[in-house]
Amino acid sequence: MSYNFDEIIERKQTHSTKWLKFDDPEIIPMWVADMDFSCPPEILNPLHERIDHGVFGYTERPSHLAKILRDRLEVTGWDIDPEWVTWIPGAVVGLNVSARTFLNPGDMAMTPSPIYRPFTFAPSNMERGMVKTHMKDVGGRIELDFDSIEALMSSDIKMFYFCNPHNPGGTVFSHEEIERLVDICAKHDVGICSDEIHCDLLLDEKVKHIHTAIINDYARDNSVTLLGPCKTFNLAGLPIAAAVVPNPELRAHFRRCMRGIAAHISSLSFVATEAAYLNGGEWHKALIEYLKKNKQILIEGINEVEGLSLTGPEASYLAWIDCREAKLLSPSEFMIQQAKVGVHDGEWFGNKDYVRLNFGCPRSVLEDSIARIQKAFSQRN
Ligand SMILES: Cc1ncc(COP(=O)(O)O)c(C=O)c1O
Repeated sequence: MSYNFDEIIERKQTHSTKWLKFDDPEIIPMWVADMDFSCPPEILNPLHERIDHGVFGYTERPSHLAKILRDRLEVTGWDIDPEWVTWIPGAVVGLNVSARTFLNPGDMAMTPSPIYRPFTFAPSNMERGMVKTHMKDVGGRIELDFDSIEALMSSDIKMFYFCNPHNPGGTVFSHEEIERLVDICAKHDVGICSDEIHCDLLLDEKVKHIHTAIINDYARDNSVTLLGPCKTFNLAGLPIAAAVVPNPELRAHFRRCMRGIAAHISSLSFVATEAAYLNGGEWHKALIEYLKKNKQILIEGINEVEGLSLTGPEASYLAWIDCREAKLLSPSEFMIQQAKVGVHDGEWFGNKDYVRLNFGCPRSVLEDSIARIQKAFSQRN
């Protein structure tokens, strides 16, 4: 089957968060992390069937879904028991429930910055504290600064928020990097919330996704791992994620912490997840090829612009563009107002000298955006 990722699909009438952001209709929205691609028939047909059934009452979490997830994870090297899985209505819910699970009032989380901002909101949502460490840009790869992580560890810190693959940096962390991080956490008795929802979108042949929980016994027994189909299969409007918690006590506590707070999961989310995981493989493969090409075109186009630099991402469709050399007060404002390309402001993630550009869009739209950026920078005085 061939899939048409080039198709331009009008999204404004669906109340799309991405497409309603900018009042100026000239601006191409390339900010929030969803893609402008339709789901394949392999997902749409079961959804149509479920809708045609017509009754949308309370829905149990289908027990076979965790087994389907287990079979998927076997491929990426993690042998889980389906019992370990708790379905939740989105990964951000998982970040927040993890904060409640690991942190008592007065405790703190540690988060490397830049980071997808809901990581930093989660502890403060429940009046827990947050210590940020800074990540390093090493030739375009965004890396953990282990020295600052070590230096800032204290007995108040009870959880480390890890995002792998990283949003916004696009880094896929190596076994050695994760092991070093786990060792620091073990030394300080710190739990780990490992958000791995971008892990099925590897764009670089040289990298491999390593689940944090497989590193060693400490990681397995002290972690909550967040996974899900929403990024891979573009299902953000049908929220669902899996929190995988091997340690039975931690898992029971996680479930207690979400009770009455985490909303029901939509019956359509379950249908879409099952269909995506069981039958979305061919579309997923084609998507990866399309994104790889988009990434290459973007890297070439951006690096032609004086003052901009891009090497990644190793995974996912979010490019973290280094604008430091452009010496602009606000690179995002410049790109949005002058180039009419609706990037995500780097400041939202913790660094105003970068912008995040979502290239999960038809190639013609990407090429138009690159041309606009090049033109706006060439006319800069
Ligand atoms: C790392 C990460 N976690 C969580 C989310 C949001 O997930 P959800 O929509 O399932 O809450 C995103 C969305 O971009 C993300 O990049």
